[in-house]
Amino acid sequence: MKSKNIESLVRANIAKLTPYSTARDEYKGELGVFLDANESPYSNGYNRYPDPHQKQLKARLSAIKQVPCENIFLGNGSDEAIDLIFRVFCEPRVDNVVAIAPSYGMYKVAAAINDVELREVQLREDYSLPVEELLAASDENTKAVFICSPNNPTANSFAREDIMRLVVDSECIVVIDEAYIDFAEAKSFVTEIAEHPNIVVLQTLSKAWAMAGLRLGLALADKRIVELMSQVKYPYNINLAAMQIVERLLSESVAEQVAEIKSERKVVAEALQEMACVEHIYPSDANFLLVKVADADAMYEWLVKDGIIVRNRARVKGCEGCLRITIGLKEENEKLLNSIRRYVKESVDSRS
Ligand SMILES: Cc1ncc(COP(=O)(O)O)c(C=O)c1O
Repeated sequence: MKSKNIESLVRANIAKLTPYSTARDEYKGELGVFLDANESPYSNGYNRYPDPHQKQLKARLSAIKQVPCENIFLGNGSDEAIDLIFRVFCEPRVDNVVAIAPSYGMYKVAAAINDVELREVQLREDYSLPVEELLAASDENTKAVFICSPNNPTANSFAREDIMRLVVDSECIVVIDEAYIDFAEAKSFVTEIAEHPNIVVLQTLSKAWAMAGLRLGLALADKRIVELMSQVKYPYNINLAAMQIVERLLSESVAEQVAEIKSERKVVAEALQEMACVEHIYPSDANFLLVKVADADAMYEWLVKDGIIVRNRARVKGCEGCLRITIGLKEENEKLLNSIRRYVKESVDSRS
């Protein structure tokens, strides 16, 4: 970060916030007579409030991610962390954030909900990072720049030196959303947070870890940022059932599943390449492919009728004519490919 420090970026009301403190914060033991939180005394496994600091789960994630607990914030999905970045740093109608486009839709939605201006900077035609344009879009009221790498929906990772240049030359928080990092060849930026306190790395258990239904996202950042986000979040944002199930599932390796998705990504891309309706398949570092086709709307409708749901990105600027296709199980991918083969045959037949 160029000159500003974290403290100067925080909203004034948040900087002086007295956060909610639970009565149990004052009691460090395990056993006791708990008459402090107006809970039911009848035990069913869930009658007590969960740990608002999520200490046990953070310790597990700290070992997996090789990041100290004090640098880990846990949210109800990374969507909660995105919203909290606005709530901690952005004064509504005064501050702004800068984000790449096209990218993940929640940056825009969270900005709108928080009444904060979002300045979108279009990626270059080859989907590389327009560092100079991103810096030029920032001013003294810019509190954060949102980068997503690997990017949704373009599927590519950005050059490490480009992201680092942005981190070093920006005067604000640089959010690096790594939701798809487990499928990428590129290395995570978590190793940089110790030296660059303006980096916030977002990760999630919703993708490679196969826990989208449990809602667990991570923000990995300087301990002051983690502290601020923790003060603003709802005290019990992660429920006990989710914490218990996440802990159990974290002990089961997903390495094989990730390897299979990566190999299926190649199989699907190669098969699509052969199809007449496919114009371009963008290189992917994620668990999906961005595919430019001759008539995206027609193909999308065909697939829906066949019970196959993909994401139509044809009307997104920079993704014209594209469908975003998630890599599924081998048999699901085969169904998709067979359906597209039938679609191609049908279009040829109807023309003859
Ligand atoms: C880039 C990106 N970030 C974050 C998310 C949301 O993650 P979570 O399920 O942890 O809220 C998604 C979901 O599709 C995503 O594509």
